[in-house]
Amino acid sequence: MNKEMKDKLLKSAVEASKNSHCPYSNFRVGAALLTKSGKIYKGGNIENVSYGATVCAERVAIWKAVSEGEKEFEAIAVIGPGTSEGYPCAQCRQVMVEFGLDWLVISGDKEGNYKGELSVRDLVPFPFTPDALLG
Ligand code: THU
Repeated sequence: MNKEMKDKLLKSAVEASKNSHCPYSNFRVGAALLTKSGKIYKGGNIENVSYGATVCAERVAIWKAVSEGEKEFEAIAVIGPGTSEGYPCAQCRQVMVEFGLDWLVISGDKEGNYKGELSVRDLVPFPFTPDALLG
């Protein structure tokens, strides 16, 4: 993937973070998911007063895509509120594994500056994959 697309995804992740609903943590996260068909789905974290019902930005973006019939992904950009890179929590990593190991997680800072990237495969060593149940 070229640098222009990575920057576009990071910018979309920053836009997504603006709609984050995070009154409890004030930890504003944004994600932008690129499908193999070329669409971009954005998500911000959505917190809940019951805490446990909170959903991370990455999963919001993935749920939006899957519910629209998209299951093949090229990359997801993730930005957090800080100035250093933010990487997905372990629950989100497992959700990513559901949709393959060979796609990219791009990390940025709160302004959308590129901070690094890893494949899902590298983010999740020894993954529990759908093959375990489906063979
Ligand atoms: N959060 C995300 O949206 N993505 C992550 O990968 C880490 C955590 C959210 C969940 C919660 O709303 C807030 O950040 C603090 O944990």
